[in-house]
Amino acid sequence: MRKDYIEKNIKKDELFTLYKVSKILNSITELNALLKKIMDLAIKTTGAERGFLMLKEGKALEIKVARKMDKKTIKKPTMLSKTIMDKVFYSGKPILTSNAHHDPRFANSESVIMFRILSILAVPLLNKNKCLGLLYVDAITQKNVFNNSSLAYLSAFANLAGIAIENARLKEKLSNENVRLKLQVRFSGGYEDIIGTSTEMKKVLFLVSKVINNEVPILIQGESGTGKELIARTIHRLGTRKDKKFIAQYCGALPETLLESELFGYKKGAFTGADHDKIGLLEEADGGTFFLDEIGEVQLQTQTKLLRFLEDGTIRMLGNNVEKKLNVRIISATNKNLDAEVSKGNFRDDLYYRLKVVKISIPPLRKRRDDIPLLVSYFLKQYPNLKVTREAMKRLIEYPWPGNIRELQNAISFSVVMAGEGKIRVDDLPPEIISRTPFPHIKYGMSISEMEKALIKLTIEKLAGNRKEAARILGISLRTLHTKIKNYIIKG
Ligand SMILES: Nc1ncnc2c1ncn2[C@@H]1O[C@H](COP(=O)(O)OP(=O)(O)OP(=O)(O)O)[C@@H](O)[C@H]1O
Ligand SMILES: [Mg+2]
Repeated sequence: MRKDYIEKNIKKDELFTLYKVSKILNSITELNALLKKIMDLAIKTTGAERGFLMLKEGKALEIKVARKMDKKTIKKPTMLSKTIMDKVFYSGKPILTSNAHHDPRFANSESVIMFRILSILAVPLLNKNKCLGLLYVDAITQKNVFNNSSLAYLSAFANLAGIAIENARLKEKLSNENVRLKLQVRFSGGYEDIIGTSTEMKKVLFLVSKVINNEVPILIQGESGTGKELIARTIHRLGTRKDKKFIAQYCGALPETLLESELFGYKKGAFTGADHDKIGLLEEADGGTFFLDEIGEVQLQTQTKLLRFLEDGTIRMLGNNVEKKLNVRIISATNKNLDAEVSKGNFRDDLYYRLKVVKISIPPLRKRRDDIPLLVSYFLKQYPNLKVTREAMKRLIEYPWPGNIRELQNAISFSVVMAGEGKIRVDDLPPEIISRTPFPHIKYGMSISEMEKALIKLTIEKLAGNRKEAARILGISLRTLHTKIKNYIIKG
């Protein structure tokens, strides 16, 4: 609509309305909210009964907002007379009719709906001579609702709306781009050795990015080999304590008093054999980060001492009443379900809540199979000429990985040794992957104790005789494992 036409036909009070409209439209920057507002204001200020707003999306004109139009009409836009919409959109010129029944332009209208409508006004939504879409209002029950002045008004209104829509779109695009760039920076900054682009891993890394410069205790939960220690070290390495110590203590292997003396230290004479003072590891980590690995294995008495430390940051050496205040960030890890341990009474709930201010759950590898090909290439980085055949990769992706990433890493090392001619084929993979059954040693005719013996033997062999690790993987205590080995006379 030409400027001079608008100026000639628009009324004074409409100009004032336009001024108010422009203020409202400029205040809304979210696209959907803006479109709704445009629609409502258009209906209200023209005295129309119904309306809709269309925008060009790709090749098609799409209805974005509609008011009082019945569902059937909207679902089937041809009922709105495509001819009229196209005419407005492609010519960029508005259409006004005050009595459609007597308007020859609608005489051949294919639209049943159109036939019933009395007053119609449709204007293009323009921005810098580009047509973004159109705004349509009508009245079914009254004729002469619109006149030249309404046409001029709605055209001016649509010009304002066009600018606001374009601004909102631009803002949306920029903010999406901004979020994307921010995530990119966040996910590449310092996380090079944590491979994984699955949604599950992104969630983990997002949480990591949130806690890096925070001092809250963190509990990392995940099956064996999922990368708990890797995440703990990364949090330390990227945080403000990076120049201070990171000390890890595996809590599973030690008898209770030994663990306590490791953690808290002891005074000379605290127990038989304590012939000098020894500083505890927590104190050694002062200013830095302490990683309590397998916290679920800690006995109740030590739990109480750890609770005191988490509450007020003080420790007491064994055999000493002097309290010492420390500044240590605590990260703990477990592959147990601590909720269950708490309900069984094996783990203090008050300590649990202290430890898991932020809980990071690392999903098992079988729940994020998308990451497997990436991890495989990562572990094959030193062998750029070595490729994995499609079938072998398929097997790697399908295997359930009970030992998670550590097991995958070992499987790749195994395959590298086995592979010839620059290719890892199915036959080069470890037997448990090829056989596709997680229990390749089970055969018909075996007794349960034979099966158990075979499994224990295999596990210990795989772990190069590491019984502690074997017990953990088998889900039994080290003592039980020892008993079983003795009974079966397995050479571990
Ligand atoms: N996302 C990952 N990207 C690359 N390497 C990983 C990833 N997660 C784990 N690893 C590697 O897998 C191995 C096992 O990881 P880590 O020791 O952190 O696991 P964990 O959960 O502490 O295992 P466990 O419960 O057995 O102590 C390490 O060599 C680690 O570097
Ligand atoms: Mg670990």
